[in-house]
Amino acid sequence: MTTLFTSRRKFLTTAAGGLSLGLTSMAATKRAAFAVQPMLRAATADSVPIPYGAAVRAGALASDAAYRAAIASICQIIVPEGEMKWSDIHPSRGEYRFENADALVDFARQSHIEIRGHTLAWYGALPAWTSELADRAEAERELVDHIETVVSRYRGAIPSWDVVNEPLVDWPVDKFSLRPSIWMKRLGAEYLPIALRTTAAVDPDTRLVLNEYDLEFSGARFAARRRALVQLLRWLRERDVPLHAVGLQAHLVAGRSIDRDGLQALLAEIVDLRLDVLITELDVVDYELPGKIGERDGLVAALAARFLGAVCEVVRPKAILTWGLTDRYSWVPTYFKRADGMPNRPLPLDAEFKPKPLFDVIEEYRRKSV
Ligand code: G3I
Repeated sequence: MTTLFTSRRKFLTTAAGGLSLGLTSMAATKRAAFAVQPMLRAATADSVPIPYGAAVRAGALASDAAYRAAIASICQIIVPEGEMKWSDIHPSRGEYRFENADALVDFARQSHIEIRGHTLAWYGALPAWTSELADRAEAERELVDHIETVVSRYRGAIPSWDVVNEPLVDWPVDKFSLRPSIWMKRLGAEYLPIALRTTAAVDPDTRLVLNEYDLEFSGARFAARRRALVQLLRWLRERDVPLHAVGLQAHLVAGRSIDRDGLQALLAEIVDLRLDVLITELDVVDYELPGKIGERDGLVAALAARFLGAVCEVVRPKAILTWGLTDRYSWVPTYFKRADGMPNRPLPLDAEFKPKPLFDVIEEYRRKSV
């Protein structure tokens, strides 16, 4: 396994800089870049590959040495898959549990990689106690308290937060077609400005991201989602609400097709609003693809290439993150198990940490210029 990572890293280093620096020098280069300027903001020069990262699990990092080595060796950024969600970090009223989130921040620091925050205002992963929030004042007090507590704890350590996650309903009519949650019930659409302004006030240097999914496909529902998102972004801008970037989750579902024109028009609007773009949760839901591994991996990679190709023609994403690094740890089988009983293969490395064609596609687009 070590040999694989070492040779892969050497290959990547050679491809990027024309020099075979090896692991030690590469780590030093990474460290220097991080010390001078956070990578999420430095990815402007075409000569520097777009930073790559993955969602990670604290439990697996602690128990699986090969996983830990793969993450530290391949990723420039990590994001907690669950450890900073309300259910994990704020399980009961007045009780914060930071152990797992702290462990990830420490891991990132020790590995000289960056960590993003995920997520502060979401309808999902809310602990049961939040449903008891009785009125507007109480809901606002708890939302603000949560953001102040969590964001201030990691101020200076987390340069980019998914402040708002998945605000739109599945098939929105307009910008106010927002997903039901305790925040919507008690605060209405105002929960968005409250969350964004609070985060900005607590950590003025962190980049504020609105993260959304199902924005890239062909079909009326996806077109409606793109329209509503643009309206929502304009609404926030008109009201002078701080926001720096849009995260395209990019959970690509094999069988759907990428609406290249629709996606590119959305990206043009985002750029026009002077917002950055990040790809935050890329993976390919492969449950309906043929079982044969070679064929399936090829189709997974081809779909990702169509998506990344469309994006990179319009904008250079500030980062490309996949929702997990290895098929060993992915959310996909929980929701999209294959009927043939074969394991899902949604991510860049297989369950034995062997790079798949998806890995090569990501490497290719990290180095493409707009
Ligand atoms: O922690 C409990 C554990 O104690 C229990 O034994 C186990 C039994 O099912 O459940 C564990 O909690 C699960 C948790 O993941 C940790 O593994 C929850 O049931 C499960 O719902 C939760 O799923 C996560 C989901 O978000 C909801 O928070 C997925 O791992 C995670 O990949 C997924 O991530 C989301 C992003 O945040 C937003 N975009 C979509 C993406 C994929 O759905």
